Order: sequence, then structure tokens, then C-alpha cells
Amino acid sequence: GNYGNYLRPQVHYSPSRYFMNDPNGMHIAPDGTWHIYFQYNPTDPVAGNVHWGHAASQDGYTWTNQKIAIWPPNDYTSVFSGSAVIDVNNTSGFFPDQDNGVVAMYTLAEYPNGTAGNQYQAIAYSRDGGYTFEAYEGNPVINRYNTQFRDPYVHWYAPGGYWVMVLAHSVEFKVEFFTSPDLKEWTAQSNLTRYGVQAVQYECPNLIELPMEGQDEPVWVLQLSVNPGGPLGGSTAQYFPGAFNGTHFEPYDSLTRFTDFGKDSYAGQFFNGIPPGEEQIVMNWASNWQYTNLVPTGNEEYGQFRSAMSVPRCVSLANTTSPASEQTYNWISKPCAIDTVFDTVLASNDTLDNGTVLVDYRDLESGAIYLEVTISNLTLDNPAGSINFTASSSLTGEYLQGGSVVGGVIWLDRGHTYLFPNPLFTDKMSVNGFFGEQSNGTWSMSALIDNSVLEVFGPKYSPAGTASFFPEAPLDTLRIDVGSLAPGATASVQVWGLTATWL
Ligand code: FRU
Repeated sequence: GNYGNYLRPQVHYSPSRYFMNDPNGMHIAPDGTWHIYFQYNPTDPVAGNVHWGHAASQDGYTWTNQKIAIWPPNDYTSVFSGSAVIDVNNTSGFFPDQDNGVVAMYTLAEYPNGTAGNQYQAIAYSRDGGYTFEAYEGNPVINRYNTQFRDPYVHWYAPGGYWVMVLAHSVEFKVEFFTSPDLKEWTAQSNLTRYGVQAVQYECPNLIELPMEGQDEPVWVLQLSVNPGGPLGGSTAQYFPGAFNGTHFEPYDSLTRFTDFGKDSYAGQFFNGIPPGEEQIVMNWASNWQYTNLVPTGNEEYGQFRSAMSVPRCVSLANTTSPASEQTYNWISKPCAIDTVFDTVLASNDTLDNGTVLVDYRDLESGAIYLEVTISNLTLDNPAGSINFTASSSLTGEYLQGGSVVGGVIWLDRGHTYLFPNPLFTDKMSVNGFFGEQSNGTWSMSALIDNSVLEVFGPKYSPAGTASFFPEAPLDTLRIDVGSLAPGATASVQVWGLTATWL
């Protein structure tokens, strides 16, 4: 693949060439290897002809492409989204003499005569640690002759000693929960209907337990992607904290909460193989169905790939508003161990007052940077200050911007990069952050700027915003401005050049 193009992310996964959408089968194997699979068209830079592509990593940032893991059974069927689990106890019987067997569960979507037909659920097993898969002879494992029935997410339910699976009835505003002792026989248990934003299709549900700051017990969360119908247009993802008793999920309240305030964060999937109670790791597809088939990177001149994943995000929940007694369940999602890919320190200033930091990173091989700004010594009565960053191209003058105001808005703006003039490619996105008693008088923001993917993080990595962007020439100059600081407040600014993991 051509990973040298200036629009190629260098610490994000993108396919060698052609089209990728949802993350699938995410798991961390017992030997510590990260496996991601993904919706992949190996023949064209547009969606369709879906296989499960595969990549592996030792650190979640440095990926090596692997052979296609799951192939369609015939030329009128696509292998749609699904998940994979490590069947440590050989519940399936596929793995008589190993404890690292992998079972993938996915949707087979038929397209007889090119039109959408039956969608049914199948499994495949891997005895070589997730590199090659054998389809189960007893497939399908669930078939309802339903044309909108997909995206099984399987997870081990330790208290019951069985598998739980959740999938979407996409056009019925319905998510269905199943259980199984062996990944082959599935029993329908319950439905959750008509929750969240009113969108056209429910897709890629996940059911996972997340740690919650300030309490010992983790909280069950249903994450649900919807498309189209997101508030910014097209694709979006929401989550519902709630109670799960092994068969039924009951949301705690009727709020719709979003996992990301950017327009390019979809179909996120949590990795299997991480013990409950720990921070769980998710990766999102950093694109949007509204324009993903049109973005410039599909052209040979720009790398011929569509699109990229987010970096791995370590997710937990916290109540971040004041008063602390309110259960807000904010989504904390920070780039997991991002220092793994720190290469050089480009700027470091721990005692900045109102002021500016300038960085020329023209010579940085990766073209990818990470910045972190923290304002300290703020008081609850006067939480004032602002942070702004601008990454610009010395060749064209184009620029990408983001910023935040203490106690208020976090924003990004990709509207001054010009390679993709598309009316749906929304310029600006913003959301509110929280400054409360738990902030300890600090306000911070960070940003990962990786050639054509921007991830912005608010105070305490909540909220996060993801946006793809397409400049006509590489961005190579960074300016960070800190202003309007409350008396006594101080700022620290750090900027790192990141590793060119693909070069
Ligand atoms: C979500 C989705 C899934 C489906 C897959 C097809 O982006 O539409 O519902 O399984 O993509 O590629």
C-alpha cells in the first residue's frame, strides 16, 4: 500500500488501499496482540463487496496489514459487521486443545439481483489466533428472513457464565438481546425499542461494562450507532447507561448522550479480551456515510484509500458536572497510552501566561502531532481562560483550528482546508465541556492532528470530537494561543511530534 501520501494518517489505521468502514471483531488476544478487522472492499474505493479485512498490532498504534480474514460465501453476499470473542474455555467445542481460539460472529447480507435481501447471522472460528477463519458447518446460527437484522456484538457475561449478544433491527428502532452457552445456539431474551435520536437506521450496538469514577461497580452501557439522522447530518453514535441483569437492559434515564461531538465517529466497537472493571477500549470509524464515498483520498493521487479508524480510546464514565451528586455519566475517552507514539518534543512550556507558542514541524517525518494544554490554579468563582490552536500549511495558507473556553465550549473548524468542497462536509463542530468541583481548578484540552484525521479532547478527555479534514498541501506549522486567563491562573503547553508508524 501507499502510505507515503501526505494525507495518510501515521498513527491511525487506514487500509492499504480501497474502502473501509466499520471496525469489526476487535479483540486483544491472550498473547497481547491487538486484532482489528473491518468492513472492507478489496476491489474498489467505494462501499460494497464487503469482506473482513484484518490488521494486527502490539501497541494499538503500529499496525501491520494481514490477509483478508473472512470472505463472502458467494458473489451475491457481503460479510457485514460483527464481533469476535476469545473462547478461552472452549464453550463452542471448536478448540479441543487450545485456550486462544477465536470465534467471529457476523451478518451475511445477501444481494440477489443487486437488491438488498436476507440478513442472517453466522459464525466462523480461528485456531491460529485470528489470522484465518473456518465457517461453521451449522451456519446460519440465527436466520429470521429479515432484510434489516444485523451487526451482532458478542461479549462474555461472567456472572451468568454465558455469552450475551446484541444486534440491531435497523429500521424498527429496535435492539435485540440474545444469550448462548456455546456461540452456536442463541436464545432471544429481550428487546429495547425506540431509544435515542430519531434516525433512520440503528446499527452496530455494543453492550459493555465501563468503569465509573468514584464508585467500585462498573456501569453497563449500550452504545448505539445511527445513520442517517445524526444531529450534524448522517452518522452518529450515542450511549445509554443502564442496568443489565443478564437478559434485559434497562436505561437509567431517557437522555440521549453522544460518544463524540465530531461528525466522523461512527460504528465504534469495544475490544473483547479486556477484563470487566478495567477501562475498556474502543475504536471508531473516522468517517460519515454522508460523504465517505466521495472524500478525496479515494483518488490515486491522494493515496487511494477510504477511510481511517480513530486511535484506540480508553473509555470510562464520570460525573463531571457540579453538583457531583448528579448522575451525568459523561463519556471519558482518551487516546490510550498515546505516549507510545511520542517521537520528539516540539514544544514544552510549563509557565506560559497569556501568550503564544509557535512550532514549525515541516521536518517531522510523520506530519502528525499531539498537543496538550492545561490551565491550572483556576477558581470556581472565576474560571476564565481560552485555548486556541491553528495548524496551517506554509504552502497554501490553509488551516485547521480548534479551541476551548474554560468552563464552556470546545470547538473545531475544518472549514479552511479546501481539497473537499462538499456541502455536507460540515466546517464547524462544538460542544460544551464542564468545569465543576471535580476539575480541581484545572481545564485542559488536547488534540491529535494526523494528516487527515483530527481528534480533539476536552478537559479530562471529555468530550471528544473527531473530524477528518483534507488540505491541498500538508499542514506544517502550529500556533497555540492561551488568553484571557483569570488572575493567578497559569498554563502549560506541550507538543509532541509523533512516530511515522507506517513509514
Ligand atoms: C454500519 C453498517 C452496518 C453494516 C455495515 C455494512 O456502517 O451499515 O450496519 O453491517 O455497515 O458495511
